[in-house]
Amino acid sequence: MSEVSLEDIASLAKRRGFIYQGSEVYGGLSGTWDYGPLGVALKRNIMQLWWKMFVDDLDDMYGVDAAILMNQKVWKASGHVDTFTDPLVECSNCHNRFRADKIDTSKCPTCGKTDTFGKPHQFNLMFNTHVGASWGSFEAPDGKHLAGDIKSIDNKTRQAEVMVPIKEGDTFDSVTVYEKNARTYLRPETAQGIFVNFLNVQKTGRLKIPFGIAQIGKAFRNEIVARQFIFRMREFEQMEMQYFIRPGTQKEWYETWKEIRMKWHLSLGIPKEKYRFHDHVKLAHYADAACDIEYEFPFGFKEVEGIHSRTDFDLKNHQEYSKKKMQYFDSEVNQNYIPYVIETSIGLDRTILMMLSEAYAEEDLSTAEKQDSRVVLRFPSKIAPMKLAVLPLVKKDGLPEIARTIMDDCKSHFRCFYEEKDTIGKRYRRMDAIGTPFCVTVDQQTKQDNTVTIRYRDTMQQERIPADKVREIVLKEINS
Ligand code: GAP
Repeated sequence: MSEVSLEDIASLAKRRGFIYQGSEVYGGLSGTWDYGPLGVALKRNIMQLWWKMFVDDLDDMYGVDAAILMNQKVWKASGHVDTFTDPLVECSNCHNRFRADKIDTSKCPTCGKTDTFGKPHQFNLMFNTHVGASWGSFEAPDGKHLAGDIKSIDNKTRQAEVMVPIKEGDTFDSVTVYEKNARTYLRPETAQGIFVNFLNVQKTGRLKIPFGIAQIGKAFRNEIVARQFIFRMREFEQMEMQYFIRPGTQKEWYETWKEIRMKWHLSLGIPKEKYRFHDHVKLAHYADAACDIEYEFPFGFKEVEGIHSRTDFDLKNHQEYSKKKMQYFDSEVNQNYIPYVIETSIGLDRTILMMLSEAYAEEDLSTAEKQDSRVVLRFPSKIAPMKLAVLPLVKKDGLPEIARTIMDDCKSHFRCFYEEKDTIGKRYRRMDAIGTPFCVTVDQQTKQDNTVTIRYRDTMQQERIPADKVREIVLKEINS
């Protein structure tokens, strides 16, 4: 097996229909990526796994799906408007941008010229959203229309404006949403949609603390440099959970959630040496303890998930800014209090990059007689986008008809693929490269004894099984 690079993974992801560059035909839009047929299947499988384990299988967890656009006061209260800014510098020679606190600003790390950086600007990670125009174009604050490249946004304010199609007078549930020149932000985290709904969920469900609220959804960040494929994007997806607890119990719950989350990571079939906890020394404005779960990507150990003890910071601030009480009456201790919160926040796209990195292998299969190799994605069966390929050995003698019967028996239970073109060897290789764990081949013997060959992706071993047992065998594997 050879060393895998991020370029190898990105190239395979594109060739096989997992992930494409966003707006590719127009030269792309930096920091955006589109999921193709296999990518979206992989994404959904991971989302479903997370949702099942953290919402469906738990008695004290509840899901929400909050709006991406929120009242702009939410972001004042959360501290994002005032706190989350980074110092940015731009090289006047090559125009590459950097975080001023991450580089030696006397020399440009890209072009090598000295003294090309002026004073750092404060760069806000939030996308301003201008309510009232048409979606999808970007306008610099000086009014100039840009062809969608966020990089060329006005240097002074560093704001990207995204237009949302809401006309004057549009109403939702009798609330007028239009305000002339109203500005809000594309949310930089899904968490605030959970915080502002804390009491709604608690009251409508008559819930007792501790309980959690989970959400999966898009988040947007005006990243200075979007890079490393889907590792750092401007539009991405998060799977977040806020667990509401009694103040004073946060240390124990923080440790409990670290353990629970690590178990989930290990359940993805990734060995524990590939993970590590990284404790934060410098804490975000809302946290009294925080760590990352890091995975060893081809470019080193990097964060995939953040676990934060967020105290009562968010709920307290929402109480102050909204003037609405965020308190909970705890009948067990006969006290009113603002709950403390433990948050777990994992990037879905980063999880996909982690799964692709872990699964990708280039294998040398050469023998004394011939040279051979394969690219294989060793996904765990439960997350593989395609579970089974059904392959008639030849496209005659009634073999395609038998193969179609097997497809019909399986396709409403899991995703299957039918193919009759090319040699069987080539078809196996194509299935290896997209991570299909099982291939079933229908041949002449099938007509005699109703058995088929099942081939296992990882071992490439083959065995004969009854054709009417295919569904049961595959289902057992993908549910284990
Ligand atoms: N609510 C807390 C929060 O958002 P975070 O550590 O900033 O915490 C959580 O983000 C996770 O979201 C990260 O661990 C990462 O997986 C993902 N994430 C953050 N920024 C990202 C970006 N620009 N592109 C892709 N994923 C990102």
